[in-house]
Amino acid sequence: MSPLHVTRTLPEDATDAALRADVLGGLTVTPKWLPPKWFYDARGSELFEQITELPEYYPTRAEREILAARSGEIAAASGARTLVELGSGSSEKTRYLIGALTSLAAYVPVDVSESALTQAGQALVAERPDLDVHALIADFTAPMTLPATPGPRLVAFLGGTLGNLLPAERARFLASVRSLLAPGDGLLLGTDLVKDERVLVRAYDDAAGVTAAFNKNVLAVVDRELGADFDLDAFDHVALWDAEREWIEMRLRSRTAQTVKVPALDLAVDFAAGEELRTEVSAKFRRAGVTSELAAAGLELTHWWTDAQDRFALSLSVV
Ligand code: AVJ
Repeated sequence: MSPLHVTRTLPEDATDAALRADVLGGLTVTPKWLPPKWFYDARGSELFEQITELPEYYPTRAEREILAARSGEIAAASGARTLVELGSGSSEKTRYLIGALTSLAAYVPVDVSESALTQAGQALVAERPDLDVHALIADFTAPMTLPATPGPRLVAFLGGTLGNLLPAERARFLASVRSLLAPGDGLLLGTDLVKDERVLVRAYDDAAGVTAAFNKNVLAVVDRELGADFDLDAFDHVALWDAEREWIEMRLRSRTAQTVKVPALDLAVDFAAGEELRTEVSAKFRRAGVTSELAAAGLELTHWWTDAQDRFALSLSVV
């Protein structure tokens, strides 16, 4: 059995430094905001897994439907010998691609979470001893170097996570992915699509309150990591649709006027009653927008697949 290779390009203390910078930067400006990447500690990752099974949260099921139906076509169009997966998490949906790519020699999952990477990587190494599994602990929004595995490569960025980036960040991200690709390589991109506002808002404000708990978990992360005294019960979960920018925003609304202390940053943060802290943007896309954002990064959209209800899309660009 070939071993699981793990490469860390992220310094051990990078996460702590980045959290401090984001909390300091985000809680001392108006309006206040925190980037969504801080949701995903062990508890947050577990809550996200629960979200993917909620009746209201359709994106995971819609994307799985496309992968189940189209993996053969995707594999034929890409012919990849290396599959790189950005933000791989538990790699559950990727199994369809791995199964369909008949010439696959290497799988390179990239994630900031070492535990998610080694767990998923070990399972895959056991199942597919023929594959060279090379896990990369890296922040996929920062420039990175891929291991020397055989081409062509298919870089997959699934789940609709592109929508968590703001437009300028998306442009930078797509350009940096483009710079990783050689002739014959491709990008497989998952994007959630614009649809009825009620369907969208319900997906981010479920009846069981799982998304509310997920949203508030970012406060628990700041409490634990930076010694802050956020009271999770003093905030309400808010999900709203921005029709102009075509994105869902999650916010946390302070129930009362309060001051939160963040000892690690020597910071006291005042919240007015009703003041909102933005915790996530989840952009929704149309085919024309995906096509033009890819084109701006030097990528041509060559294939577009959706689920039967046109809720979610996978697009492929082969260079
Ligand atoms: C993992 C970023 C795709 O934006 O739909 C789920 C995260 N946030 N419910 C999304 C999320 C609230 C999710 N992504």
